[in-house]
Amino acid sequence: METFAIEGGRPLSGSLRIQGAKNAALPILAASVLAEGQFYIYDVPHLKDIKVMLEILTALGAKAKHVDGCVDLDTTSVSVPHVPDDLMSQMRSSIFLAGPLLARLGEVTISRPGGCDIGERRIDLHLSGLTALGAKIEESEGYITFRAKQLRGTNVFLSFPSVGATENIMMAAVLAKGTTRICNAAREPEIIDLQNFLNAMGARIRGAGTDTIEITGVQRLRSVSYRIIPDRIVTGTFVLAVGIAQGHIELTNTLPEQLTALIEVVRSCGVEIKTRHDIMEIKSNSRPRAYDRIITSPYPGFPTDLQAQLMVFLSQARGTSVIKETIFEGRFKHVNELARMGASIYVDLGSAIIRGVGKLTATSVEATDLRAGAALVLAGLAAEGITTVNQIHHIDRGYDRLEEQLRRLGADITRVSI
Ligand code: UD1
Repeated sequence: METFAIEGGRPLSGSLRIQGAKNAALPILAASVLAEGQFYIYDVPHLKDIKVMLEILTALGAKAKHVDGCVDLDTTSVSVPHVPDDLMSQMRSSIFLAGPLLARLGEVTISRPGGCDIGERRIDLHLSGLTALGAKIEESEGYITFRAKQLRGTNVFLSFPSVGATENIMMAAVLAKGTTRICNAAREPEIIDLQNFLNAMGARIRGAGTDTIEITGVQRLRSVSYRIIPDRIVTGTFVLAVGIAQGHIELTNTLPEQLTALIEVVRSCGVEIKTRHDIMEIKSNSRPRAYDRIITSPYPGFPTDLQAQLMVFLSQARGTSVIKETIFEGRFKHVNELARMGASIYVDLGSAIIRGVGKLTATSVEATDLRAGAALVLAGLAAEGITTVNQIHHIDRGYDRLEEQLRRLGADITRVSI
């Protein structure tokens, strides 16, 4: 088991290149099974979830190597229509294999997916979307089997703009007969990246980034080389780290236009942010001001994946702030841990009321999920004394060696094996 030990109180400085986006890389790797051939995917971060995805692809018959951020993938021999249980249970994103495998092999069996424990994570929209495209679905003893000789294009309305369901339906529809229209689609930038990847493979998709995506089925797709977009959540985590620990840093390989909601909040709290091309410069040298009310919502709203990190930032503010979480009902597990570090946070009916306390006190805390874990690391940067963050395997699912990156910026953080 490993933990992070963080000695707080050091301002951050220096420059850092942001890793490729996990949430773009996962569906793109899954989508590669739609064609036979050799893929080179660049800027794929070295993360636990990516490793699991590559193990799944290997179990399906692909050959995969991941060296220095490049995934070298041969999908020619993909022929196994079954995602292994032990891998499926490790990561919710394994559900992404349902759409593309069904389209390529005409059949796929998965078990119900695992993933972060942040609330009820339903897959009904994935199932109803694939059913609308003509899949027959059977569920028994925890397994779900999808079958369809030929998927058929249709109109799919999502009652909620689910990111994963939008992507799964897109991946199934690219080889369907006719045109599919996804209405009330999610608009996240990772969906645009998936569209660009699939179109490079020869698919005919338009509208990603809006709430209506139109996919005209094609007969076959080809393998390609592709570069993944930068990770906006990792970028946002470092922006907030400066707001929390103070200092002056530069982030390269960013897409600031994908972080408008965060930039608006932290700027009005007093953090200086300058952007030019793919570079963001972030500067903060005093306690932030509080922010009245932030509501997490689907893109372009404030991302739920930055809610925990924002809460740590607001715990440092002068005044009282409110965050309402609307995407995942179980996403306030970091509150108890932050309270143990001296934060003053009261949760009521899906909203957290955060009274800024300035200094936090170091103690030993548990990372309960990926983003909560990152938030606790940020809290450690501002705490007096040495904070120990346990269960850091959650953090390794989304951040490529977070401790090395923070150390490069001057933080005092070490990975400790116990
Ligand atoms: C993706 C991201 C995750 C992020 C989330 C919301 C990836 C790999 N993960 O997760 O980091 O936190 O978007 O921005 O891209 N829902 C249903 N039925 C479904 C599917 C979802 O009710 O079939 C609900 C969920 O319970 C949740 C909400 O929709 O309340 C959002 O889920 P969704 O957008 O699907 O998130 P993910 O794709 O799982």
